[in-house]
Amino acid sequence: MTQAPRHFVDLWKLEASDLRAILDDARARKAARLGWPKGQPDADKPAEHRTLAMIFEKHSTRTRFSFDAAMRQLGGDVIISNAADMQLGRGEPIEDTARVLSRMVDAIMVRANVHEDLERLAMNATVPVINGLSDKGHPCQIMADLLTIEEHRGPLRGKTIAWVGDGNNVCASFIHAAPKLGYTLRIAAPAIYHPDLVDLARAAEQQGHVETTHDPREAVEGAHAVITDTWVSMGDTDHDDRIDALEAYQVDETLMDLADPQAVFLHCLPAHRGEEVTDAVIDGPQSVILDEAENRIHAQKSILAWCFGKVG
Ligand code: CP
Ligand code: NVA
Repeated sequence: MTQAPRHFVDLWKLEASDLRAILDDARARKAARLGWPKGQPDADKPAEHRTLAMIFEKHSTRTRFSFDAAMRQLGGDVIISNAADMQLGRGEPIEDTARVLSRMVDAIMVRANVHEDLERLAMNATVPVINGLSDKGHPCQIMADLLTIEEHRGPLRGKTIAWVGDGNNVCASFIHAAPKLGYTLRIAAPAIYHPDLVDLARAAEQQGHVETTHDPREAVEGAHAVITDTWVSMGDTDHDDRIDALEAYQVDETLMDLADPQAVFLHCLPAHRGEEVTDAVIDGPQSVILDEAENRIHAQKSILAWCFGKVG
């Protein structure tokens, strides 16, 4: 019997042990290649002779480059296309795209406008499908963020992570992973841009520690990591309403002073300095945004290795 492919689409569907195995593998792989040229493959080349297709419906810098670099370091190869350049962009069914690409490549990464499209792709693909961001989540980003927090602050279990601002797709993946990895997530968001209630209910069912408030100070008090993201995500059309509603959620030095003195600041980037975060914080001593960006490569290598059955 053929085994079902290991999709990396929604963190809430994955086993805690798999997330732990991915983070541990990422940490070990990163340590093992310290100081190596970025293009040199890892000694074990777990993706040798494998090809990853990458499809983008939205803009990307980090996801595009880090997945490409990750596959090279794993000894594999990539094929990249914007969805608009594919027949997908002219209305070819997602189901046919999934079946055809499954005959040509070993895994498919998609950055999608609509999460349900990603799910349809995964349902019809016979190779692993990876969520490279949708309107409902950004799981690869969160794995890099969690790796970064562990590097700087030690084990996640028992730590408090504060999310300040829009309860968006990135926030959703932090909610999804909370029950699996044992951190407390405190979310400060305005009522209008509150995190998804289904995500919150599911986290509660899975015994996750996720708290919500409208007060950024309450969320940040004593936190080990403070995280924010753009107030206007790709695809959002209510720019002015968002800026008005989120003005009180800017991460500045006064807010950071309420966190644990060793707290780290993270932002998935791209950032809008002067909106969700001040220059002083994002370019200041507590900011670990460049480690976070680099860790996209390390985390995704282990996600890919997990998809290929080499981890977990
Ligand atoms: N953080 C992130 O996913 O960045 P890109 O949009 O540049 O891929
Ligand atoms: N929330 C942002 C993340 C970008 C990486 C967006 O979806 O545009």
